[in-house]
Amino acid sequence: MTLIASLNLAKESDATRLIEAIGEDEALGFPSAATTEQADQSWTVDVYFEEAPDEAALARVLATALGPEAGRFVVSDLPDEDWVAKSLEGLKPVRAGRFLVHGSHDRDKIQPGDIAIEIEAAEAFGTGHHGTTAGCLEEIDRLGQSHDYKSILDLGTGTGVLAIAIAKAWQKPVLATDIDPIATRVTAENAALNGVGELIDAATAEGFGNPVLAVRAPYDLIVANILAGPLIALAPEVVAHLAPKGTVLLSGLLTAQGPSVAAAYEAEGLKLTRTGEQEGWLTLTLER
Ligand SMILES: C[S@@+](CC[C@H](N)C(=O)[O-])C[C@H]1O[C@@H](n2cnc3c(N)ncnc32)[C@H](O)[C@@H]1O
Repeated sequence: MTLIASLNLAKESDATRLIEAIGEDEALGFPSAATTEQADQSWTVDVYFEEAPDEAALARVLATALGPEAGRFVVSDLPDEDWVAKSLEGLKPVRAGRFLVHGSHDRDKIQPGDIAIEIEAAEAFGTGHHGTTAGCLEEIDRLGQSHDYKSILDLGTGTGVLAIAIAKAWQKPVLATDIDPIATRVTAENAALNGVGELIDAATAEGFGNPVLAVRAPYDLIVANILAGPLIALAPEVVAHLAPKGTVLLSGLLTAQGPSVAAAYEAEGLKLTRTGEQEGWLTLTLER
């Protein structure tokens, strides 16, 4: 029997902090834990146990990580067939454009012509299963057919999946940044695993708050799959770091948020040239 303890949080950073705390607490027996973004932009933390968890320890870890007002885990049974289906779903290879994102156990699914990206389900976001990642991968493949980008930034890189896709497809260097140091560590590991460690530099930064981003500017292509709020807030800096004929590829926004995000970049002088949609999530391509 599998039991699942679930909790919904407003902030991704809280979900990440809680998962780290759970992973470090011996009393919980180091269970598997994962966070998933919901359509309303909240973040669910799911912790999986093979036997009834120590709920007092769970509450203590939660209060220590996020304070006493953080809420309460709800523990429920997870029917075994659902658990198996869920884990297999998370591990299935994903095709987007010429890219195949897969785990190590699915290397035999690679077909001639595929650009294979090997990513294990990790602490960082980005296995290709989310509509935003898949939408970006498709657009990256499409943009590569008509552009020759030389200077590229992947802002909010997660597992590094988009930076790896770019480096593998175009053999070009990519600066991959994330606010979360775990993501930049995972990105460096994944880049090496995929044979593009030499092409990808991973750096920790909130937005453009690390000098390395200015040093490598201007960028011919800036990819940012984060959320609508930060995308709007970052619009002036993104465009300030863009080369004269540069392209910006944005994702992480819901259909209803498309107009306000596009308007923020149009106000900085860019033109919306393409809108893609996957599972209710938009991908916006903007050019000077
Ligand atoms: C939706 S994930 C995208 C991951 C990956 N690029 C993909 O397409 O699958 C968003 C990532 O952006 C990072 N992030 C959020 N806000 C950020 C900010 N202001 N600056 C840099 N990274 C940020 C998060 O830590 C997370 O790893």
